[in-house]
Amino acid sequence: MELKGKIALVTGGARRLGRAFVLALAQAGMKVVVHYGRAAQDAEKTVAQVQALGAEAIALQADLREADAARSLVDRVVDLWGAPHVLVNNAAVFEPGTLQDTTLENWTLHFRVNLRAPFLLMQRFAAVVESEGKIVNVTDWRAVYPGRRYLAYTLTKAALITLTQMAARELAPRVQVNALALGAVLPPPGEDMTYLERLVQRYPARRPARMEEVTDALLFLLRNDYITGEVLLLDGGAHLLHG
Ligand SMILES: NC(=O)c1ccc[n+]([C@@H]2O[C@H](COP(=O)([O-])OP(=O)(O)OC[C@H]3O[C@@H](n4cnc5c(N)ncnc54)[C@H](OP(=O)(O)O)[C@@H]3O)[C@@H](O)[C@H]2O)c1
Repeated sequence: MELKGKIALVTGGARRLGRAFVLALAQAGMKVVVHYGRAAQDAEKTVAQVQALGAEAIALQADLREADAARSLVDRVVDLWGAPHVLVNNAAVFEPGTLQDTTLENWTLHFRVNLRAPFLLMQRFAAVVESEGKIVNVTDWRAVYPGRRYLAYTLTKAALITLTQMAARELAPRVQVNALALGAVLPPPGEDMTYLERLVQRYPARRPARMEEVTDALLFLLRNDYITGEVLLLDGGAHLLHG
């Protein structure tokens, strides 16, 4: 799909990876809706950065724990700019928890934000999309090769892959739906780079992903019309240690 002039919605687009996705899409000539939850100031900064690139952006708040807020986000984009062509389900929560200590609260939070919200957004996106569209669901290599920690997170990201594959079948040939399964890119909030550097020592690449490597992968999936239902592992080969 030619991206120039088209409309993209990026959830959790105010900061960190989401912000990098927003800027990459703007650089590719897209009009970008920067969804945010709490990071209002960061969202405004990201919008200003997009505008400094000579592209258009707007910020929209929605608490993705709430079904109505998730469901109505796509309709708010339609009202403002028309039907979006691209949906990037990037927003997520990432909290630890094993089988034995995961609380119902932790479980419910992950399922609401990481799985139910993308489902509702995809459903509304599919209802309004015009002649062509793309969905990219941001997931994690841990969803394919689960570890012991982050139980609810991993389950939601695994189900997001299945949702990607099912939607790819149902929405073909108008909409391509793919998953980007990331490895180490940024340390979780509250951790510094030494957290990641320790982690990646075991990975074949022995370093975290560069942000440009991640945004290039997103652009590749959006520009290619013949890839659908794919899970692109962008993890520096981490999965090879578990295969
Ligand atoms: N960081 C990595 O190295 C890594 C590795 C593997 C996979 N991933 C995946 O890549 C994506 C981005 O990663 P990240 O580290 O940049 O994520 P992050 O900072 O942990 O979260 C991304 C955004 O999700 C939004 N969000 C969370 N709860 C929300 C809610 N209730 N309502 C609305 N928005 C909510 C937040 O928006 P606000 O700040 O506006 O509240 C946040 O900025 C995620 O899907 C993650 O699972 C990341």
